[in-house]
Amino acid sequence: MVTLRQWHPRWTAVFLLLALLCCLFAPVVSVKHDNFKTCDQSGFCKRNRQFADDASASSSWMSPYTLDPASVSFKNGQLDAVVLKTLKEGEEKVRLPLTITFLDSGVARVTLDEEKRAKGDVTLRHDSQARKERYNEAGNWALVGGLKPAAGAALNSEAEQGYTKVVYGKASKHQAIIRHAPFGIEFQRDGETQVKFNERGFMNVEHWRPKAEKPKEEEKKEGEEETKEEDKKSEEQGEDESTWWEETFGGNTDSKPRGPEAIALDITFPGYAHVFGIPEHATSLSLKTTRGGDNAYTEPYRLYNADVFEYEMDSPMTLYGAIPFMQAHRKGSTVGVFWLNAAETWIDVTKKRNTANPLALGVEGHTDTQTHWMSESGILDIFVFLGPKPQDLTRQYGELTGYTAMPQSFAIAYHQCRWNYVTDEDVKDVDRRFDKFNIPYDVIWLDIEYTHEKKYFTWDPLTFVNPDKMQKQLDKRERKLVAIIDPHIKNTNDYPIIDELKKKDLAVKNKDGNQYEGWCWPGSSMWIDCFNPAAIDWWKGLFKYDRFKGTAHNTFIWNDMNEPSVFNGPETTMPKDNLHHGNWEHRDVHNINGMTFHNATYQAITERKKGEVRRPFVLTRAFYSGSQRSAAMWTGDNLAEWTHLEASIPMVLNQGISGFPFAGADVGGFFGNPSKELLTRWYQAGIYYPFFRGHAHIDTRRREPYVAGSPYTEIITQALRLRYQLLPAWYTAFHEASTTGAPIIRPNFYIHPEDENGFAVDDQLYIGSTGLLAKPVTKEGADSVSVYIADDQPYYDYFDYTTYSGAGHHTIPAPLEKTPLLMQGGHVIPRRDRPRRSSGLMKYDPFTLVVVLDKDGNAAGTLYVDDGETFDYQMGAFIHRRFSFDGARQALTSSNLETGQRTVKCEKYLKTMEKVRVEKIIIVGAPKAWKDKSEVVVMQEGEKESQRRKPMPMEYYPADGKKAAYVVVRDPRIYITKGWKIDFGEKGAGHEHHGHEH
Ligand code: GLC
Repeated sequence: MVTLRQWHPRWTAVFLLLALLCCLFAPVVSVKHDNFKTCDQSGFCKRNRQFADDASASSSWMSPYTLDPASVSFKNGQLDAVVLKTLKEGEEKVRLPLTITFLDSGVARVTLDEEKRAKGDVTLRHDSQARKERYNEAGNWALVGGLKPAAGAALNSEAEQGYTKVVYGKASKHQAIIRHAPFGIEFQRDGETQVKFNERGFMNVEHWRPKAEKPKEEEKKEGEEETKEEDKKSEEQGEDESTWWEETFGGNTDSKPRGPEAIALDITFPGYAHVFGIPEHATSLSLKTTRGGDNAYTEPYRLYNADVFEYEMDSPMTLYGAIPFMQAHRKGSTVGVFWLNAAETWIDVTKKRNTANPLALGVEGHTDTQTHWMSESGILDIFVFLGPKPQDLTRQYGELTGYTAMPQSFAIAYHQCRWNYVTDEDVKDVDRRFDKFNIPYDVIWLDIEYTHEKKYFTWDPLTFVNPDKMQKQLDKRERKLVAIIDPHIKNTNDYPIIDELKKKDLAVKNKDGNQYEGWCWPGSSMWIDCFNPAAIDWWKGLFKYDRFKGTAHNTFIWNDMNEPSVFNGPETTMPKDNLHHGNWEHRDVHNINGMTFHNATYQAITERKKGEVRRPFVLTRAFYSGSQRSAAMWTGDNLAEWTHLEASIPMVLNQGISGFPFAGADVGGFFGNPSKELLTRWYQAGIYYPFFRGHAHIDTRRREPYVAGSPYTEIITQALRLRYQLLPAWYTAFHEASTTGAPIIRPNFYIHPEDENGFAVDDQLYIGSTGLLAKPVTKEGADSVSVYIADDQPYYDYFDYTTYSGAGHHTIPAPLEKTPLLMQGGHVIPRRDRPRRSSGLMKYDPFTLVVVLDKDGNAAGTLYVDDGETFDYQMGAFIHRRFSFDGARQALTSSNLETGQRTVKCEKYLKTMEKVRVEKIIIVGAPKAWKDKSEVVVMQEGEKESQRRKPMPMEYYPADGKKAAYVVVRDPRIYITKGWKIDFGEKGAGHEHHGHEH
């Protein structure tokens, strides 16, 4: 046995080597918890949870906030008043100006500020140059519309004493009941309370106060952890001051010149058992509770954009982006809140049995979801949505923050990325191999190594010798290049970009007002401050083709690390007391920071060259409400593990209902090497991410689809082809998202809001309004999956038309080569069936329409097409058609959904598409009565009765076991730009209802 004494340096070496080997081969990596705060380590979260616990524990608890009835005024849809916060006996009350704006859309907006800070009537510690007011500009970045006040909103004169009531909303269905003492609001729809503010009395606005300076000898040094005597004393009196001032975490001290300034509020959704939203977290769609107990978290959901390396599954931990929009759902109703605040935010979720509503059925109706929102700084600014449908929520939230930008068509095809393709020759080689293996792809990506020593806007002169030639090769097949540009600018000599940044004074500042310096990929770096309009202007100039040489019209941009990620900063980000343009503290704007950066890049790409107006493509890792207007997002650095594949589905679904649907996860998993099976399954799932990109860490093995070999390469290729085949359906879904705010992939509850059994289903998805229902395989070795069907429509297997009907779970075979994909009866699905190398090459390909009949023999669907590239669609240059099959008339028709005057741009565009045909029509679930039919009659707009066409052949395929009957009409000589009708019934007859076989 080796005793300590005998321990020889050589043993140490052996031990260290063993330890190192263990590290190298340890299969499971996981997040470094110590890098990130728990609620208890985040002063304001700890204080507010404590506040809530004290409030709940005491039966005599009274919220100290009251509305002064004499202060109420109401004009033009807006209520103004003052809420007073009572402090200790004898102390002056704190005045908190309140506004409630009732918007035309039926949404109400509540804001609450602090008068003293708003007036600048406070002093800051440490001679800080920071702004004195509470941050009130989040709306300037997040909101783009929907703010028109409601003309019809009115004070309700019948209010009893102690309340102010306002009637608003369509047909005056909504009512806000504002309780004066203690202050609280109930939002009602049709007389029923849907959302309650401050019901539990957790409202807390930490007012400004001077720090009571203590005699010198008692003062503790900055960052000292233990609590001072005075603090302890006041703790006994109810308040724990230990986290009011400087706060230290992981060796960084936050100077907090404004002292404690958190705002918090409890929001209850009575009768709602499910809440969704508040991405980004690696968790289930229906949010779990956060205060312990069975299957519950113990930490609140955190929103504080951060570079969470190797993030963990099933966790409320913060991730890269934040959307503080939450929806509560029950049968018959969806409501929600948007908490417009950009500071660090924590949200506790709890559920409570309620007995208040004796008419409610089942457990669901008897459950209240209670939430507790806590933000470190800023004003209180909350939008309240009263639904009643999930579609109302996504539409109204989109009206406020903008709908997702309509991307170029290449952007929704397949992206091939890795860290890194190492030379321009490497890129060209990968490009050729895709062709050699007949695998479609549209975009190849360059990660940070293409730059010269991590200096963005440069190319490594040794490895990327001829970027122009490389892009020309890509352009031949209409392929694109995406290059990474991060917000940290290398702080080095001999780099004009950093010189300009410094000279123009456009970088984020530290608390002393000097340009802040920290560490990221390039080593010492500075961060562009895109809150500054001058910085945005400068940024725009950097992307001009003559400045960023080697880029071309087919180059687009990836913005990473924009949380921002700072390797040596607190929680891997910037110190909160850093200063941005306008002297706002980083604390106030943190969650918006990433969005200002990708917005700037978006603008830059639109202005690269005069006259060249193309829709930009920008991918961002950090995001906030509004990011959807200019970027796509991905879920950051996941792992090549089955659990990460599984978690990606609810995460991407959640992005969809939260207004930022252009989302995806790294296919294959970023860290680690996926098994071939996992890689294959991930591609089969990835084809259902709106943003579909394969990506891998620099230390991983190559894994382009052709690397895996037979049969994996073929199976992955099939999956990719399926994505390409369905691009018309995807593009139509994107169009819907960009005009209505609807998600691109949709969870069960969104499609079937009345189906209580399906509210928590988050492992399967619908594509847009197509009725396509996919259930990705996320378990190793699985050869079947259980698909949940919510309604009594027939669902048909996409590939062989096997029929599944009946609400409930259905087991569907899923051997490796297959991902279950069903078609819900009642839809018309547009496709393009010709295999091509890129989506650009499919532009003029003919369409196939799959008509999937519902139980009554009807079907309908839409198709949206435009040039996929320019902004001409905004001037009418698009095709938008509705296809419908009328079971009674036995006819399929194409009609124009755009009924307005045709613009010149439209005419021009239609001309380019004039020859594009519908080359095939498949009718699934065809009526039995058609079995003896062999012809259909086709009519097209513009053809005269006298030119009536001869009947066209139709092929009937009878039902075969569980496989439904279907018919095929080949090349009926009809065009996508035209109206037409295909008559499947007997000439002039066919009005009777025909049964159909499944
Ligand atoms: C970050 C990104 C990752 C990228 C890497 C290098 O980790 O999340 O996608 O490959 O940085 O740029």
